[in-house]
Amino acid sequence: MSTNILGRIDELGARIDDLEKQIEDMVQGSVEEEDGVKHPRKRLYRARAHSNPLNDANFDVPTHPDEYDWSAHYPSHFPGSKAEQPKEGTVTASGGPPEVRFVDVGCGFGGLLVKLAPLYPDTLMLGMELRDKVSEYVKERVLALRRENPGQYDNISCLRTNAQKYLVHHFRKGQLTKLFFLFPDPHFKASTHRRRIISTAQLADYAYLLAPGGMLYTITDVPELGAWMREKTDAHPLFERLSDKELESDPAACLLASATEEGQKVARNSGQTWRSIYRRLPAPEG
Ligand SMILES: C[S@@+](CC[C@H](N)C(=O)[O-])C[C@H]1O[C@@H](n2cnc3c(N)ncnc32)[C@H](O)[C@@H]1O
Repeated sequence: MSTNILGRIDELGARIDDLEKQIEDMVQGSVEEEDGVKHPRKRLYRARAHSNPLNDANFDVPTHPDEYDWSAHYPSHFPGSKAEQPKEGTVTASGGPPEVRFVDVGCGFGGLLVKLAPLYPDTLMLGMELRDKVSEYVKERVLALRRENPGQYDNISCLRTNAQKYLVHHFRKGQLTKLFFLFPDPHFKASTHRRRIISTAQLADYAYLLAPGGMLYTITDVPELGAWMREKTDAHPLFERLSDKELESDPAACLLASATEEGQKVARNSGQTWRSIYRRLPAPEG
């Protein structure tokens, strides 16, 4: 038998193992319990570790932020949606519909959103995630949390999209007050640096979307990427880096290293992290 055929048989064997595992998971039920809450099983939502953010996938993208309907993401915050009552405190000062203020770019399995939700119950937050199965997992996780905790976790949601390309399609100028980049993909090779989510060009978009006084958070366990993100953002005229002292009273800043699945993995392996946090400055007069 040729090595080609033997290779193919191995491949098929691995696929059959995978399918058996999936059937076993389905038979055992698709939920697991964590902290007394039934969550979707993470292993049913495994995906490739990395996706290429420069690939053209087919996403449903609004041509203008006003065209996007957020009521399906946050039904109880929207009058007239399927939920019974709108929540108090979530309409904008102008009386318009509530708007997303915090975005976790590349939210992975959604750990940060889950931790932030009770800290800022009146703020709508969105995780943007490129990987299909991972974003599905976050959506199921949020629904499970809402079911188990009525009236809570209504302010978080997840959208599968390429944030690197489509952030500006979803949010208006100055709409956001916090933008998070936690353990972004490092794209180690020089030839792939242009895929990095913090870059001079992308920072122009982030400055456009953040309100003056808004915050941009970054953390990584890759020293070279930490230095890159700091160098690029330090050089941007509309961002000012904050000292650890200034950040002591910011609950979001304190969560960066520990809230997400990636951060927890780094902590379990006693890894070091590099954190840089910035305030969006007002544009200079004139
Ligand atoms: C290393 S993981 C970190 C996930 C999460 N922030 C954490 O700390 O656990 C990076 C995540 O960013 C997502 N990602 C990469 N490029 C993206 C893009 N352009 N838009 C949205 N998500 C992206 C990846 O799919 C992956 O889930």
